[in-house]
Amino acid sequence: MRLTCIAVWTWLFILEGLFQLASCRSFQSDKPDGGLVKDCESIPPYLPPTVTNTSLRLSALRSLMDLYNISVYVIPATDPHLSEYIGPQDARRAWITGFTGTAGTAVVSKMKAALWTDGRYWIQAERQMDCNWELNKGETTIIDWILNETREGDIVAADPFVFSIGEWESYKNPLHQGNRQFVAEEKNLVDIIWVGDHPPNPTDDIFKVPDEFFERTWQMKVKEIRAQMKENLYQPTAVLISALDETAWLFNLRGNDIPYNPFFKSYTLLATNFIRLFVNESRLPQHIKEYLNTTCTTDMCVQLKPYTDIRKDLQEYAKGNVKIWIGQEYTNYGVYEVIPESKLLVNKYSPVQLTKSVKDSTEQKGLKAAHVRDAVAVICYFVWLEKTVPKGNVTELSGANYVNKLRSKQKYSKGISFETISASGLNAALAHYSPSHETNRKLNPDEMYLIDSGGQYLDGTTDITRTLHWGTPTDFQKEAYTRVLMGNIDLARSIFPTLTIGDELDVWARHALWEAGLNYMHGTGHGIGTFLSVHEWPVGIGSPHTCPLQEGMFTSIEPGYYQDNEFGIRIEDVSVVVKAETKYTFRGVPYLTFEHISLVPYERKLIDVSIMNKEQIDWLNNYYERIWRTVSPELQAQQLTEEYDWLQRHTQPFSHGIIITYSFTSLATALLGSFLLQGKIL
Ligand SMILES: *[C@@H]1O[C@H](CO)[C@@H](O)[C@H](O)[C@H]1NC(C)=O
Ligand SMILES: *[C@@H]1O[C@H](CO)[C@@H](O)[C@H](O)[C@H]1NC(C)=O
Ligand SMILES: *[C@@H]1O[C@H](CO)[C@@H](O)[C@H](O)[C@H]1NC(C)=O
Ligand SMILES: *[C@@H]1O[C@H](CO)[C@@H](O)[C@H](O)[C@H]1NC(C)=O
Ligand SMILES: *[C@@H]1O[C@H](CO)[C@@H](O)[C@H](O)[C@H]1NC(C)=O
Ligand SMILES: *[C@@H]1O[C@H](CO)[C@@H](O)[C@H](O)[C@H]1NC(C)=O
Repeated sequence: MRLTCIAVWTWLFILEGLFQLASCRSFQSDKPDGGLVKDCESIPPYLPPTVTNTSLRLSALRSLMDLYNISVYVIPATDPHLSEYIGPQDARRAWITGFTGTAGTAVVSKMKAALWTDGRYWIQAERQMDCNWELNKGETTIIDWILNETREGDIVAADPFVFSIGEWESYKNPLHQGNRQFVAEEKNLVDIIWVGDHPPNPTDDIFKVPDEFFERTWQMKVKEIRAQMKENLYQPTAVLISALDETAWLFNLRGNDIPYNPFFKSYTLLATNFIRLFVNESRLPQHIKEYLNTTCTTDMCVQLKPYTDIRKDLQEYAKGNVKIWIGQEYTNYGVYEVIPESKLLVNKYSPVQLTKSVKDSTEQKGLKAAHVRDAVAVICYFVWLEKTVPKGNVTELSGANYVNKLRSKQKYSKGISFETISASGLNAALAHYSPSHETNRKLNPDEMYLIDSGGQYLDGTTDITRTLHWGTPTDFQKEAYTRVLMGNIDLARSIFPTLTIGDELDVWARHALWEAGLNYMHGTGHGIGTFLSVHEWPVGIGSPHTCPLQEGMFTSIEPGYYQDNEFGIRIEDVSVVVKAETKYTFRGVPYLTFEHISLVPYERKLIDVSIMNKEQIDWLNNYYERIWRTVSPELQAQQLTEEYDWLQRHTQPFSHGIIITYSFTSLATALLGSFLLQGKIL
């Protein structure tokens, strides 16, 4: 998760609501604003150097609006695949406004221009937007603003490719009620005027995931999806695949089009009798074309079509006696609107998205292996921090760069999976903070430090958060941390029947906090991909998206606690849903539980075992034993002796207050450790 540059979890925004606004405001008040605040009232206006002059861009847009007879033009921040992260050529909202934050919608009328974004971005938006723009902090809704700017009969327009079906309806319905037209303008007006510095479409070669990292060939996956079509009551004749990770998963192919996400821009129309991949064909090397059987047109061959042909092609296909199955969440209005209602089968998620959410044994193995190497990178970072922070020259940004570099050295690394959140002291109280030059803070042994980071590897995607302290934490910090940890553990060891909805388990993660009158204002977990998205829905916990849990699904577990203006705590592990052993099995339904695959010990200094129960401590000790057993051989293999010793110290078992248990187990671990050391390293 992160704040400034890239999208975070949208569902998290919803839950955070006022909490975020409050903390952002108080955060703002203790920032020196010298020279960074614009003054649009003075003559001439004062503009800080962080501002982009948008006068020419806006006048060009307005000329086009006149040409098309458009009164208001709406510019959202997403791409045609409704991606969480977008490529630079799709950053139209950022270009027209100057504001580079991920979330936010721009609206331009004949005379005015306004931006809506959530409270996390207000400071940044004010610093980046010139006096042509007003920042709307929720004083009016976009719809009310548009109604006020227009008269009955006027045309409000937008590019339907950058709206989900639901978002489009949320404009269309109230605008129609107000007797305004809401018109889909197929050609994006910003693209017409954004010339010269408009980043080109991606041209990098599309590549295949190495064979050892997948067990289902694309042909097997195609058959799986076709079998689901056949079984479906509504007898769909084709599935339209719009989300980029779904096409990437289906064909075991990846690209470099989107930061942090190994995707390539494409759509797939998977019909009972053909497969069409809409992509820039020049990006497929010959061996990939052969791999896809692109020279034939039978049902197991992949026909290549230009990316921009999707709408035309769908429209043509929809003329037949067909039924097109789509997932509402990731299908844009531009492709949806050309399919007649009677030819549509609409579910919340496409069958590909749901099939992808249960990982097969090779994907599971890959995710686990990636998390072992990822743990090595994180442990190396923690050892380095322990030595370097007291010298006083590590900052949030230099720390983030360093941990990113450590990940890139691990085998199969393909970069990081989201912008690293490296937050010291009060900065961590903003759940989605990520450092920028203006907010960068020095890491201080007397402050808590939160690091939320992850990597892309050919065999899996990782995401882990740890909160550290190098000095003496307060009693309250220890209690809050321990309660967050207790929530993580309570959820991880919970046992539930197959097909329990993720949301139903959310209370486990909050119980220990609630007992003390504490809470966190965000969701508890999100699914994760295998060298795909770091936030992969609909698996998750405590968000409106989540689906029934099954064996082989992966989710993060990440309770937290944020004390405004002081500190922030989050403890995040990726966990796999596994079978649980239960005494009985009511009606034969198998019971499930979680197993953490993130393998980095927690901050010992912040754990107060005296408030934990025996089951929590036992779970923790078992987990530590597993971390040691799994990660120490990898540390040895990479000849990281200092990190090996560190891990040994940091995975010592906790006692329940009974000294005997403690010394016996630690003695055993110490003996085992020195045995391994002598046998393998020395
Ligand atoms: C912005 O650019 C326009 C066109 O180049 C120029 O006329 C105007 O003075 C600039 N505005 C500011 C505030 O610099
Ligand atoms: C409506 O538009 C008028 C004229 O532009 C403006 O003065 C007024 O503040 C607007 N009201 C709202 C609620 O935006
Ligand atoms: C432009 O739109 C207005 C409504 O805002 C309409 O009355 C007018 O006829 C349109 N003009 C043209 C040339 O289409
Ligand atoms: C397709 O990719 C090639 C490079 O592989 C590039 O030269 C070309 O401009 C791309 N076409 C489009 C329409 O993006
Ligand atoms: C697809 O390609 C494979 C391997 O190149 C080949 O064995 C197979 O016959 C091809 N299928 C069709 C339908 O052309
Ligand atoms: C911190 O200072 C030490 C010694 O001056 C230097 O070796 C090290 O590279 C510095 N680290 C950072 C992150 O600047």
